Formats: sequence, C-alpha cells, structure tokens
Amino acid sequence: MFRYIGNKTKLLPMIISEISENTEPKSTVVDLMAGTGSVSVALRTNGFHVISSDMMTYSKHHLVTQLLISKAPDFLGLNNHIVINNTLGYEAVLDYLNNLTPKEGYFFQEFSPEGTPANGTPSRKYFTSENAKKIDAIRDTINLWISKGWISNIEESVLKHTLIMAVNDVANISGTYGYFLSSFNKNSLENLMLKPVSFVTEGSTDNVVLQGFAEDISQDITADLCYIDPPYMKRQYAANYHILETIARGDYPEAVGKSGLRDWWDQHSKFCTKTRIRASFEKIFTTMKCDVFLISYSEDGLLSIEELIDFFSKFGSVSYKVIEYSRFKSNNSRLSKELNEYIIRLEKHKGVS
Ligand SMILES: C[S@@+](CC[C@H](N)C(=O)[O-])C[C@H]1O[C@@H](n2cnc3c(N)ncnc32)[C@H](O)[C@@H]1O
Repeated sequence: MFRYIGNKTKLLPMIISEISENTEPKSTVVDLMAGTGSVSVALRTNGFHVISSDMMTYSKHHLVTQLLISKAPDFLGLNNHIVINNTLGYEAVLDYLNNLTPKEGYFFQEFSPEGTPANGTPSRKYFTSENAKKIDAIRDTINLWISKGWISNIEESVLKHTLIMAVNDVANISGTYGYFLSSFNKNSLENLMLKPVSFVTEGSTDNVVLQGFAEDISQDITADLCYIDPPYMKRQYAANYHILETIARGDYPEAVGKSGLRDWWDQHSKFCTKTRIRASFEKIFTTMKCDVFLISYSEDGLLSIEELIDFFSKFGSVSYKVIEYSRFKSNNSRLSKELNEYIIRLEKHKGVS
C-alpha cells in the first residue's frame, strides 16, 4: 500500500499464520484498527469473512475499495453528465479528472508555496503549486458529483482511494504529513497523476467496513477472532495524516499553525496515551462478542510486554510470540534498526463480558 506508521505488510505471513492457527477456515475475523487495510486484504484473500474498521475516514475509503468489490465500479451515474469520449468507466473517469483545468482553491492557498494561508503564516510547501491546483480541481469535482448524487458511496471511495495514492506519490514530506520539507524533493516535483489501482480479485466481497473508535463499535461486533493492531507510540495518526483525512472527507477545515493541521481532537486516540490504554482495551475485550483476540504490539510501545501480559491476564489466558522487525524509518536516525514486535494471544475466560 503506502508508507504508514505501523503498516504490517512485512509481517503478513506471520500474522495470517497466527490467525489461521487460532480459528477455523472461512470464519469471521475482525481487523479492528485496519489502517491501510493490508491485514484485511490478506484475510480476504485467505478466505476469511472480514469485519474491518478504523477511526480515520481515509482508512474507510481504502477498506471499501479493497474489501467490498472485485473490479472497478462502472460510474454509470455520470452518463449524460460528462462525456468522456463516449465511453464511461473507471479509467475514463480518471482521464477526465487528470485533465481538469487546475484551480487556485483550498489546497493551493493552504499547502503550496504560492498560496496565502488564511491564518497569515508563511506559505507552506506540502505540494508544488501546480500539484496543489490539480488536487483542488479534482476534489471540487468529486464533491460536485457527490452533491448531485451522480456517484455511489463505493465510487466515491474508489476515487478518493485513487487520489490519496496519487497524493502520496508527490507529497513533499518525510514519512508523515506532520510537517513539510523546506525544499521540494525529487518526487514532489513530478506531476500529480491519478493512476488506476488494481482491485483485489481473490476472496469474497461479502465483508463489512466500519468507521469509528474501536472502544465504541466493539459492542456491535460478533466474531470468531479479533485482530487488534493499535498505535503503540504517542504519535497521533489524525495529526500525522491530516492531509489525507481532509482529502477523504472532502472538506475545507481551518489550517492551524505553521504546519496547517486541521483540528484533529475528534480523532484523538486513547491508545497514544499511556494512562488510557488499559481502559480502552478493557472496553473492547468486555463488550465484543468474541473469545479470541490477537494483539500486535511493539517493544518500543508505551506499555512493556510485561505490563500488557499482566493486564490482559485479568480477562483470560494469555501467551505471546516475538517477531524481529525493522523499525518504521522516520528521520530519527538515533534509533537502532531492529526491534521486537509481539503478537499476544488472549483467550477470554468464560463469562468475561
Ligand atoms: C498500527 S496502525 C494499523 C496499521 C494496519 N494494520 C496496517 O497494516 O496498515 C493503527 C491504526 O489504529 C487506528 N486507531 C488508533 N486509535 C484508534 C481507536 N481508538 N479506534 C479505532 N482506530 C484507532 C489508527 O487510525 C491507525 O490506522
């Protein structure tokens, strides 16, 4: 998928084999903090029925695109509204969006060097001015199509998923969107281009995508096994990926401070606060109708493995495995490259609810 803090692409074989050992084939498995959807997709292609969720809106679009369909939607609702060489379809729609007249809109003003941020701070350099203008034109057009009812929810997700992938290719950042680089790097000078994504063809599309805080939606979930991949550091996803969230929501929020973050308090994660992690896990374990939980956690995490085992043991029998893993590389080079990643198994005692 793309660089994302805690992305599990490299650990998929271990995670899927652990899940397979702990539940029957074709059973219902939850990916409760799914992020890019890498684990959910592997669950789908391995024949499981997947319930996938995250609190972030961009994540919802990634999950819908990868779990609920096997091919591009047809965009029939755009017929008669847009003429694209008389042929509609995903690629023709991308072609239309790629060729829109660039526009000096919100992204241009707030996130490009020629813009004038509304809060009077110096201009920002997340994107070149040309790319920011293209993003504005594409965003505004998708918003128009949604407001006219010309595209379905799935088509909206596919377009936003495709736009986010394109934006990631040209963003002038180091790893996350927490701040922009002072001068444009090589990738960011390329022209933003929507490219057709490949759709997952294996496995069923009879899956469920949810959005919300895990602590809140757990009570509505019944499953055979729940995989949880929580944040393990203080870094908040909503702050580090604020631009992707703005693209996913299609809104025009106040860009605050020098870095231009949207107000992200409504997506603040308790898993990034040492004193609140335990209460959050407790709510998930006690409200979800599920007996077996597999939890990924890092040696670097806010809680140590001993603290986690001690706490989880209140709810059932606990064991864990250690995997050696290379660290998410940000610009912090003082940290060593290798660190352990844990997969903790909790089987709930009967009557824990
Ligand atoms: C370590 S990442 C998951 C990475 C994912 N397994 C992947 O491979 O891309 C943690 C995810 O948890 C989400 N998250 C954090 N706190 C949450 C909460 N309380 N409820 C739901 N999702 C949460 C974040 O938005 C982030 O996407």
